[in-house]
Amino acid sequence: MRYNFDESINRQNNHSAKWEEMDKKFISNNLWPMWIADMDLKTAPEIIDAMRAKVEEGIFGYVYRPDSYYESAAKWSQRRFNYKIDPKTLINSPGVVPTLSILIRQLTKKQDSILIQSPVYYPFACVIKDNDRKLIENNLIQDEKGYYTIDFNDFENKIIKNNVKLFILCSPHNPIGRVWKKEELEKISNICLKHKVRVISDEIWRDIIMPGFSHIPTASLSKEIEKNTITCFSPTKTFNLAGLQSSFVAFPIENEWKNFDTELGILDIKRNNPFSLVAFETAYTKCDSWVDQLNLYLNDNMEYVINFLKENIPQIKTIKPEGTYLMWLDFSALNMSKEELSKFLQEKAKVALDDGFWFGENGIGFERINIACPRYMLEIGLHRIKEAVNNI
Ligand SMILES: Cc1ncc(COP(=O)(O)O)c(C=O)c1O
Repeated sequence: MRYNFDESINRQNNHSAKWEEMDKKFISNNLWPMWIADMDLKTAPEIIDAMRAKVEEGIFGYVYRPDSYYESAAKWSQRRFNYKIDPKTLINSPGVVPTLSILIRQLTKKQDSILIQSPVYYPFACVIKDNDRKLIENNLIQDEKGYYTIDFNDFENKIIKNNVKLFILCSPHNPIGRVWKKEELEKISNICLKHKVRVISDEIWRDIIMPGFSHIPTASLSKEIEKNTITCFSPTKTFNLAGLQSSFVAFPIENEWKNFDTELGILDIKRNNPFSLVAFETAYTKCDSWVDQLNLYLNDNMEYVINFLKENIPQIKTIKPEGTYLMWLDFSALNMSKEELSKFLQEKAKVALDDGFWFGENGIGFERINIACPRYMLEIGLHRIKEAVNNI
């Protein structure tokens, strides 16, 4: 089946945070929304059909998880990443960010140091600080072409100097779009092993991978690394299901699985809702082809942005992401302060992008644009930016 990602959509009556809650972060709701990471694309028709059948049942009481739920996630991992997971090591959680918060409290004490690699998905920093832990940043380094790599010396030095207890890895990396290579993952995982730093590998973006790249689950690198790594993943980014609010955690150590399960029990948040149950299992059993086609469409959207910028706004630099549907645009040539740039994009271009400085100090001068939308929406947003830049 061929899927049509060009379909025009309307989210005005969708209670969409992206479209109708802009005024919480930006000057108004009257901007072109290219921010928060969900897609202006309908999910796979197979998922819609399965959810429709669920709606037709007309009863939405408490549900239990059949064994097939975790088995479908384990089989997806084997099929797509050649990594075998025991379904018994998996646990459902209401989301990756709540998972991080619970794990931080279970694996570290107040004032312990936790490492992240900036610029990175900003709730990492929030959840560390909100839990009264010390935030330590290993800044990614950028070459003259804009390509980011890891400063391994700084990574190890920061761990030693701050007695770091936990590292939160973003793989693939939001917002800079790197799909980490095996050697990079091995190097940082081995440094963590050497210094007894536990690793949480946030792999929520693992399915959105551009042609020519492959995602490698951190835990697949070796038995030793697997034991040191707790992995978070979910089909929510992949299939545009974030509103269903469920995710998976893979625990290599049985005791830690039990502790997490106990905490979910205390909070009474163990269950799925009937829709996440049916949508997630359908995604992992029937929708390989949809994701493959989605990735090609997103790849074309990225090419479109790159060509548009080159031809129309060469001051704005970017490079093609290896994964995720987020692009990291370098506006530094406009010589604006972070406040001026943010104001300029909202007031003059009338677009809502995630400001680079949200992701860390080294994000100043950048903006993150979400390209997971029908092409015509991308065209509208980019033309707005072009006009505003031309009018400076
Ligand atoms: C790296 C990363 N982790 C987690 C999330 C959010 O996960 P959840 O909605 O399951 O809390 C996002 C959303 O953009 C993300 O980019």
